[in-house]
Amino acid sequence: MKFGISAAALLAASLAFSNAAKAEDTLSPLHWQSQGNFGSYDKAALQRGFLVYQTVCASCHSANALHYRDLTALGFSPDQVAAIASNVKLADGSQASMDDNFKNPFPDSQVAAKAFGGAIPPDLSTLVAAHPRGTQYIYSLLTGYQAAPSDVNVMANHYYNVAYPGNQIAMPAPLKDDMVTYADGTKATTAQEASDVAAFLTWASHPNLDARKQIGLRAVIFLIFLSVLAIANKRKIWSGVV
Ligand code: HEC
Repeated sequence: MKFGISAAALLAASLAFSNAAKAEDTLSPLHWQSQGNFGSYDKAALQRGFLVYQTVCASCHSANALHYRDLTALGFSPDQVAAIASNVKLADGSQASMDDNFKNPFPDSQVAAKAFGGAIPPDLSTLVAAHPRGTQYIYSLLTGYQAAPSDVNVMANHYYNVAYPGNQIAMPAPLKDDMVTYADGTKATTAQEASDVAAFLTWASHPNLDARKQIGLRAVIFLIFLSVLAIANKRKIWSGVV
């Protein structure tokens, strides 16, 4: 009955693997569909997140790893993407094209530093990859603005934020309710906007996540198949022995 035991062990191992992902999701107040071993992107959320990025964040932050043409991966048609690009005016006054990188609102970082008391808005295209729990961090940061406790002195040009290390950030709260109007009718609360833009920036950092997870799943299925084959083979070879 060795075969039965090994197959059960394999099944148990693969179940444990998917349970771990579930346990993690219940810890966070929000669930991003891209999380977990089998998660994939929710394209509607990515499109809403792009709208938030483009309407709000893009006036201060670059996302240099992205080209406008990459937006077709979010489910926008090539015509929609061309229209998005043509609405962007580059530094030299020309319209952006599909092949341009996302516009950098501060090509001269000195200008940004002057505007924000020395702080520079970081490029957002790889921030989720660079930060541990990056998706959750962006959400917490954007919803983490509060009145400072009375015993805290907030520095000039800074804002109190519970999620930011040190609690004082030079970015003014960028979101409020109804900052954007979603084409799909979703209500644009601050929390919804924060969640959607966090999803969009996760995609920006890991655009190939869906493909990677599919390959991973296929590899696991293949390895299980290979193990079964090896066990069956071993039983056949040793069947006459003892
Ligand atoms: C008015 C300009 C402005 C807007 C609009 C803005 N930011 Fe920022 N952001 C900043 C500045 C300035 C910093 C640097 C803060 C610092 O160093 O204290 C920053 C920092 C950040 C950080 C980095 C925090 C860290 O840990 O270093 C993130 C993430 C961020 N912004 C996300 C966003 C997102 C998402 C949006 C759109 C919803 C947005 N920002 C809109 C100016 C802006």
